[in-house]
Amino acid sequence: MNNKVSNYYNPKRFKQKPNDVVFTPLKLAKMMIELCDIQPTDKVLDPSKGKGVFYNNLPECNKSWCEITEDVDFFTLTDCRHYDLIIGNPPYSMWNDWITHTIKLNPKRFCYIWGTCNLTPKRLSVIRNAGYIITNFHLCKVDWWFSPSFIVLFEKGNEEDSVVSFTAKAFFCDICGKGGEGKKKCGRGRTRIVDGVKKKYGMNECPDVV
Ligand SMILES: C[S@@+](CC[C@H](N)C(=O)[O-])C[C@H]1O[C@@H](n2cnc3c(N)ncnc32)[C@H](O)[C@@H]1O
Repeated sequence: MNNKVSNYYNPKRFKQKPNDVVFTPLKLAKMMIELCDIQPTDKVLDPSKGKGVFYNNLPECNKSWCEITEDVDFFTLTDCRHYDLIIGNPPYSMWNDWITHTIKLNPKRFCYIWGTCNLTPKRLSVIRNAGYIITNFHLCKVDWWFSPSFIVLFEKGNEEDSVVSFTAKAFFCDICGKGGEGKKKCGRGRTRIVDGVKKKYGMNECPDVV
C-alpha cells in the first residue's frame, strides 16, 4: 500500500478535527457488516480503520485498510483496485472529497454511516450520477452521537431498483421564488434590517410578499 500522505494529514498544514475521530459501536459495525453480505472472494476495503471495528470484524474475505494516523491515506489510493465493497465510517469533515474519491475507486458497492444532516440530495446526486443506487437504507441512533444516523448501501444499478428516491434540487419559496445555489435565499426564518430595525421573520412569513 502507498504510504504517502495527502494534505489532509500533512502535520504542517492539517489538524485532525475532533469530530473526524468518532468510533463506531461494535454492535453497529457488526450490523453493517452483516447487511453487506460479504463473500469469501470479495475484495473489501475499510478506508478509515480507526481502531479497526470494521476491519477486525469482517468475515473471511480479501481485506485491506487505510488510516491516516498510521500514514495510510485513503486519498493516495489512486488505482482502481476493483473493490467489491468499501465499508466504514468516514471522517465527517470531508464528506464531499470522500464521496468523490470513493467513486473514483469504482467499487461495486460501498456502505457508509451518515449523520442525517450529511446525507444531502446534492451528495446523493453526485453518487447517482456515478451510476450507484441505494439498495439498503437503515436508520439508527447512537446514544452519544449528535444526530440519528443512516446506514446506506450503494451499489451499481438502475435507478428504478433503488429503494430510496430523492429530489435533487431544493424547493423554493412559493411567494418570492428565491433560492438556488449562489442566489439570494428567501428571508423566511431569517433576520433582516427593515427601516434600520432588525426584524426576525417567521418560517411562514416571506419578507418579499407584495
Ligand atoms: C469517524 S472515524 C471512524 C473510525 C473507525 N472506522 C470506526 O468506525 O470506529 C474516521 C477515521 O478516519 C481517519 N481518517 C481521517 N482522514 C483519513 C484519510 N485521509 N485516510 C484514512 N483515514 C482517515 C481518522 O483518523 C479516523 O480514525
